[in-house]
Amino acid sequence: MNLVFSTRISKSRTVVPRCGISASRPASQPRFIQHKKEAFWFYRFLSIVYDHVINPGHWTEDMRDDALEPADLSDRNMIVVDVGGGTGFTTLGIVKHVDAKNVTILDQSPHQLAKAKQKAPLKDCKIIEGDAEDLPFPTDYADRYVSAGSIEYWPDPQRGIKEAYRVLKLGGKACLIGPVYPTFWLSRFFADVWMLFPKEEEYIEWFQKAGFKDVQIKRIGPKWYRGVHRHGLIMGCSVTGVKPASGDSPLQLGPKVEDVSKPVNPLVFLYRFILGAVAATYYVLVPIYMWLKDQIVPKGQPI
Ligand SMILES: C[S@@+](CC[C@H](N)C(=O)[O-])C[C@H]1O[C@@H](n2cnc3c(N)ncnc32)[C@H](O)[C@@H]1O
Repeated sequence: MNLVFSTRISKSRTVVPRCGISASRPASQPRFIQHKKEAFWFYRFLSIVYDHVINPGHWTEDMRDDALEPADLSDRNMIVVDVGGGTGFTTLGIVKHVDAKNVTILDQSPHQLAKAKQKAPLKDCKIIEGDAEDLPFPTDYADRYVSAGSIEYWPDPQRGIKEAYRVLKLGGKACLIGPVYPTFWLSRFFADVWMLFPKEEEYIEWFQKAGFKDVQIKRIGPKWYRGVHRHGLIMGCSVTGVKPASGDSPLQLGPKVEDVSKPVNPLVFLYRFILGAVAATYYVLVPIYMWLKDQIVPKGQPI
């Protein structure tokens, strides 16, 4: 836990991806909800219980503060964008350090944003609907880009990270908090069925390809996991990178992976959605299982 490794400081240790950097889904990893339309409907329902039932098992206030620490929110006048900001749980951590009037929360789900609008500390934030892979901000706009727990739904994560680079000012910092891939077979199965759980090497490669320098990754996790990562974590790491030159990312990409205006077969959609939701249920149970283990196994021993 709290391990920080950096591509800058660990020159002797080459980080070689042990996995393909995949935007599209291999058949073995259907990732039913790594899709904008499916994520939209998923959050249509999940937004009702998100803050009170989902977050306490996966994304606590201590984890949030730990994950935001590398974002270096050192000045109240910084311009910050919180992409996939949802109900504003992470934004509540941001506005402890930055004036709310300088913070924009962007999300594709109006249902999630409706919850953010009800939070008094966020009343001065700008709250807008938008797509993480096509941000409505000018190039060289923000001092900090934050995105917590959203990348797993992006059909083309590399495109979202390229957008993070574009909207930052020269010297600006991106802080992307996201899942980590499980090593235990059953957890791996459900992770692959549900959504994108990147490996640490994938995050680093996406950041470097987008043009970021000084890419660092910090592991995070709920206290009661005692540092265990084998089941994967929905919020398992905080990745940061600095924009070294103004302008757009040097990376060129082809057309978008998902065209949201294209009609979908409602039966196929429903089938995919239900399977994705079933896999998500496994990840509601994992933190409860780990909490029980933490209660039973004597402190100081591995669980
Ligand atoms: C797990 S929630 C995280 C919310 C918030 N950042 C937090 O820390 O609690 C994921 C959010 O990402 C949003 N999302 C998913 N895909 C998106 C996309 N392509 N563009 C913008 N938001 C997206 C969802 O609507 C949802 O609100």
